[in-house]
Formats: sequence, structure tokens, C-alpha cells
Amino acid sequence: MSDELSRNERIKEASDYLRGTLAEGLRQEATGAIAEDDAQLVKFHGMYLQDDRDLRAERARKKMEKAFAFMLRVRVPGGVISTAQWLNLDRVARDYGNHTVRLTTRQSVQLHGVIKSNLKPTLQAIDRALLSTIAACGDVNRNVMCNPNPYQSRAHAAALELARAISDHLTPRTPAYREIWLDGERIAGGEEETIEPIYGKTYLPRKFKIVIAVPPSNDVDVFAHDLGFIAILDGNGGVAGWNVAIGGGMGMSHGEPDTYPRTADVIGFCGTADALAIAEAVVTVQRDWGDRKNRKHARLKYTVEDRGLYAFRTEVESRAKIKLAPAKPFAFTSTGDRYGWSEEDHGNAHLTLFVGNGRVQDAGPGLQQLSALRQIAELHAGDFRLTANQNLIVTNVSPERRAAIEQIAADNALLAPRSGLRRNSMACVALPTCGLALAESERYLPNLLDALEERLAGHGLSSDEIVIRMTGCPNGCARPYLAEIGLVGKGPGRYNLYLGAAFDGSRLSKLYAEDLDHAAIIERLDPLFAAYAAKRNSGEHFGDFVIRAGFVGRTANGRDFHADVGARRAA
Ligand code: HEM
Ligand code: SF4
Repeated sequence: MSDELSRNERIKEASDYLRGTLAEGLRQEATGAIAEDDAQLVKFHGMYLQDDRDLRAERARKKMEKAFAFMLRVRVPGGVISTAQWLNLDRVARDYGNHTVRLTTRQSVQLHGVIKSNLKPTLQAIDRALLSTIAACGDVNRNVMCNPNPYQSRAHAAALELARAISDHLTPRTPAYREIWLDGERIAGGEEETIEPIYGKTYLPRKFKIVIAVPPSNDVDVFAHDLGFIAILDGNGGVAGWNVAIGGGMGMSHGEPDTYPRTADVIGFCGTADALAIAEAVVTVQRDWGDRKNRKHARLKYTVEDRGLYAFRTEVESRAKIKLAPAKPFAFTSTGDRYGWSEEDHGNAHLTLFVGNGRVQDAGPGLQQLSALRQIAELHAGDFRLTANQNLIVTNVSPERRAAIEQIAADNALLAPRSGLRRNSMACVALPTCGLALAESERYLPNLLDALEERLAGHGLSSDEIVIRMTGCPNGCARPYLAEIGLVGKGPGRYNLYLGAAFDGSRLSKLYAEDLDHAAIIERLDPLFAAYAAKRNSGEHFGDFVIRAGFVGRTANGRDFHADVGARRAA
């Protein structure tokens, strides 16, 4: 491995706190793209330069530039967004985007298809809605997630409060965002320590993700992120403090055993007053210890594997001047959402809707979901909450509005399906916008689910809750290695099949079969469904069953993730 810093490090260093030549690039009308280095920097502003991959071949034939457009990701800490804000995003998606709103697996919102000349008006409209895209992507702390339960129990309120405090504390301070997109005045100079007191000039070695979970729900997949806080309940509805988990992450590359998904380790317990200082210390240790030479080895999970948990924890304690107490017991039951109407709060109720793969669009009669959510938002002056499963909760609905809201949802297929598999399904975006996709995901999973549902029905398993997640490449944006059935794109129409993750999100899956096409996926899963129906123990989840029945081994964490794949290939 070379001793040189990665190219991105040089780009950050030279960028003058993320300005680069973005302002000039926006003015260039000859291309719909921006300069290569700026395409790295623009991520810190919450955007990706993409092109419509469906149009690539035709445009190349016509000697036209690729169909460039930007994806914008809006930060929504804790997933709480007012219906007024939603209406603004709906407007922006129709005026400047591709008429869709995408709810993400990390409780944020993506707008796709925004062309360069529309970027500034789009960001200004987002700003007027009191929302921002800053640090939604890039080598910084991203959107901070938390369990979106709207009951307002004191524990959930504390989780949201912590998520917002961490989000504010770790938002980049550079004035570049305001200058470039919102026509703010250029603020020159300033000492490094005052411009970015936490990040410094070169920010973090890689992206950084923080989540907060409130047991028994592990909907945020607390073990999949760099840093997690797990609420420890005090028995009176409040929080006694937080277990701290570090070193989770999903991304890996096919055929590169030095890259692997990893579940986070719980390193101790802290009180609420100390949580922010602990979060900052974990970030700064990673800032200083993380690998800045090899971006494929730059996430916190690799720092933890290389330095060891003990060394990492000790350094965090010393920087935060806080000694972590031993971790306290906790128990998760699932990673899924609770669909439908749920408990009332002062007479109001909450409705969790099912949004297939998080894509909100008007797709024809009975599927006008963008318009349906707009109607609901117009009826309901309150909050929406985005879930980590790409769904949406309409919160605090008063009794007189309930029937109308439910009817709009029912008319547009927004109520949860009966199928236990579909209720627990997620797919990343992949084609046509994601430049890294090797195979379809969002556009294909619904068809695969149709076929699998037929088989499940044959085995009497239609309503059984089985978690299935698909991604178009091994980067893992929909956390496939924590699904009981994980499908990861390998090439056009081909997927690797992973099995054996735990239903509560605490154990990774393992590679079961490679390079499967549509028919082969069904062929391979059908006998497992049959065996599950016939031989499972009472209450046994599919992910646990396939291990007990010997179909797949139990995964060891971290660098051992690929262990017996190598052994099998060698054999
Ligand atoms: C090396 C690793 C990764 C890279 C290079 C990467 C890159 C990308 C890109 C380019 C997109 C845009 C797709 C589009 O909207 O067209 C995307 C989407 C997304 N990524 Fe990643 N990603 C990585 C890993 C992850 C992981 C591990 C997670 C979460 C655990 C994640 C969370 C997301 C989310 C929430 C989206 C939005 C779309 C969705 O909900 O599927 N990413 N990623
Ligand atoms: S998992 Fe891969 S294909 Fe899917 S959105 Fe992420 S980077 Fe793109």
C-alpha cells in the first residue's frame, strides 16, 4: 500500500474549507457536470453528481454528453419533519427534481434528477423550508438517526434530543455552503481552529454515521454504524443513560477480503450529560487515527480492528475526560417498523405507512403516492416521521382526521401489505442513478418479492416476518448483511445471496450462494422455505433457523466475515 495520502485528502486540503471551484463550476454552461475534484467536494454539501444510466448508450451513440443531474440528500435529524417542510420538498421535487421523493435507509430524504442550473434555486427553497443538505454526504458526520417512535415517552424524547444535539454539534461550520448556494457573503480568513474546531481542514478520513436506539426496537440498526447510543431505560419511562457502541459498518468490495461488514461492539455506558463529549471524542480519535491513505480501509470499523477496542476506548476516555462504566444489559426484539395505527397519545394516534423501497412518486391509478402524501400533509398540520426502514409515520392525528387520512393512504397502496416478507423489505436506489450499481435493486425487488411470495404461500409462510434486503452493489446502503435474506448485486441480473443474520440486527449474515439470476434465487430459497415451514422451533426466526439447520455457518464478526468462503473455495 502506498504511503501517499489518498487523492481525496489532497482535494480537501486544497479546497479552502470545501469551496474548491464550485462557484465557478456552477456558472459554466457548456456542461451539465462539474470539475472532477469538485464532484468530491460537492458531497460534503449533500449532493452527488450522477447521470441517468438508462440513457448512457443512446447518448454516447449520438455523441452527446451523459445526462448529468444531481442527487440531493436532505438532513432530517431523528427523522422528524413537519408537514409544512414536507410540502416544500414535494414542491421542490416537482419543480426541479424528477417528480419523486426518496425516503432513505438513514432517515433522510433524497431528491434525484436536479440539473446543474437548478441547484441554487433548489437549495434556496430547501433553506426556506428550514432544512439543509450540508454534510448529508461526504467525509463528515452524516444525518444522526434515532428511533422515530412518536409516543413522546420520556425515553424517546431524550433520544431525539440527543440526536439533535449531536447533529448540531457535529455539523461543519464552514461558511462555504451559505456562500455558494445561498448567495451569502464570502467570509474570508479565520484560524483553522475557529473555522472547523472539530474537523480541521481535512475533515474525517471517511464518512461517519451515528444512531440512537431505544430498546426493544432496533429499527435504526444500531450495530451497522460507526457510533451508536443504546438507551438504558430507568424503569419509569425515562433514560438512565446510554450504552456506547462503536465500529459498525456495512461496505465491502467483492473479492477483497480485507474489506468486510462489521457489527459494532458495545464498549461501555455513560450518563446523558456525558454523551455529547463521548460522541465528539470518538469522532476526533477517528479523525486522528483513521487511515487517510486507503479509502477502502478508512472507516472507523477498520481503525477499531487495527488498534483494538481497548486502545480506542482508552483514548476516547482520555480525550473526553470521562470513564465509561461497564455496559448495562439491554435486549432488542426486531429491526422492523410497527405498521398501522398505534397507541394514542392524549387522544391522538399515529399511522405508520408502508412506502415500497422509500420511493414516493405518482405511478398511476391507485399508486399516486406523492400526491397522497401531499394531501395528507395538507390535512394534517403536525409532523411526519421518517423511519430507518424507508417508511413514514403520520404522527399525532386527531380523532376527527383519522378516517380521511387512512382513506387516502388506502386508496394509494400506502397501508402495509399482508406479506410478512414485503413488510420487512428494503432496497437501495441502484440503477439508474447510482454510479456504483452493478445490478438493479429498487426497480427489481418488487418483482422478486412477487415470485417469492408465491413460494412462501405454498409453504404457509405468507404472514411470517422475514427480513429481506437488496442492494445493487456490495457497498451495502440498505444494510443487506444484517438481513435474514440479503441479496447483493454482482453484475447485471446477478446477485450474491447472504443468509443467517439475526432478526434483531445483532448478527451478520454469511455468503450462501454466488452469481444467482432471478430463477436461481427462487430455486435456492424455495427448499429453505420448505424446511423452515416443516422444521422450525416455535418462534424461531428464519435467520436463526438456517444456521441451526446447517444451511449456513454462523458469521464471525469483523475480518473473519469472509473466513469460510475462502476455505470453501480452497476445498
Ligand atoms: C463504500 C460504501 C458506500 C458508498 C460508496 C455509497 C455510495 C452511495 C451512493 C452513490 C448513493 C446514491 C444512490 C442514489 O441515490 O442514486 C448512496 C445512497 C445511499 N447510501 Fe450509500 N454508499 C456506501 C455505503 C452505505 C452504507 C453502508 C449505508 C448505510 C448503512 C449507506 C446509506 C445510504 C443511503 C441511506 C442511501 C440513500 C438511498 C437508499 O436509502 O437506499 N451507504 N450511497
Ligand atoms: S448499495 Fe451500491 S448500488 Fe446501492 S445505492 Fe449504495 S452504492 Fe448504489
